[in-house]
Amino acid sequence: MSRSPHDIINDLERDRSLHEPDRLRERSEVLDRLESWRLCGLPGHLETAVEAGLRDRIEALCVDLESVDDQLCESIRRDVQLGAGARRLLECAYAAGPDEGGRTAGDSYDYLDALISGVLQIDEPGMPLAGLAAEMVFYQPTPARHIFDMIARTALDERDVLIDLGSGLGQVPMLAAICTGARCVGIEWEAAHVECARRCAHSLNLDRVTFVQGDVREIDLSAGTVFYLYTPFEDTMLRDVLDMLRAQAATREIRICTLGPCTATVAQERWLQVVGPWEIHRAAVFRSA
Ligand SMILES: C[S@@+](CC[C@H](N)C(=O)[O-])C[C@H]1O[C@@H](n2cnc3c(N)ncnc32)[C@H](O)[C@@H]1O
Repeated sequence: MSRSPHDIINDLERDRSLHEPDRLRERSEVLDRLESWRLCGLPGHLETAVEAGLRDRIEALCVDLESVDDQLCESIRRDVQLGAGARRLLECAYAAGPDEGGRTAGDSYDYLDALISGVLQIDEPGMPLAGLAAEMVFYQPTPARHIFDMIARTALDERDVLIDLGSGLGQVPMLAAICTGARCVGIEWEAAHVECARRCAHSLNLDRVTFVQGDVREIDLSAGTVFYLYTPFEDTMLRDVLDMLRAQAATREIRICTLGPCTATVAQERWLQVVGPWEIHRAAVFRSA
């Protein structure tokens, strides 16, 4: 028999373990359920005084649990500003355990994105966007779990330079710089996005991250050892950039990490070998042959 909201709320009010900072995922699941009750009403309840009382308790629980998350984000943000954010961010990212059953697959957002948003606090663009040319793909951030997956699978270190080709608001280079010893560069067409990314990196004291405004096709890529593409462009633009990367690979070994539909195109390149598992809804890693 399913338990009544009343019993569930009683239990949640007693369950202090949800206040442990690292129970982020469990808190997020509880908050999602409470949020749906807040918005849609309690299952099987009429508008009564009892429900009004429960509503107040739901509201109080939400405020209480959200404040645990806010404090966690603020405290990790302070660690990042002191150059010591990697351990706690990676602990949060990998706390859910290995990816059995394809939990990390897909392009939806989850509790890790809320964590990253609270830690990085990237502003909204303060000026209008310039607009994209044909074949450029609009901004959509990589879900945080894929960034952590990519960080783990590329094992970036201080010899690496990660270049995010079409970096948007810059969370991939910033997280990679926080969590690894690599130098990280974001190249982005939209000046407004570059400005936000630079402001955020400055506020976090991230001195190994730089952002370059421009069209990837016109930027020198010779420093990069690992290139990241979350399908930033399509068709001939993707072809042109793959040709540029192939020219880079003629001078040194490079790795390319992709997410999204561009992976299928990159996987056809004969000068690249896939490293580890390749699943369409997960980041893929390639190495120049
Ligand atoms: C799907 S978003 C990826 C954002 C970011 N890499 C991430 O994963 O969070 C693609 C981004 O590429 C940018 N972009 C598209 N074509 C570009 C080009 N030729 N040069 C530079 N940036 C480009 C877009 O403005 C957009 O911000």
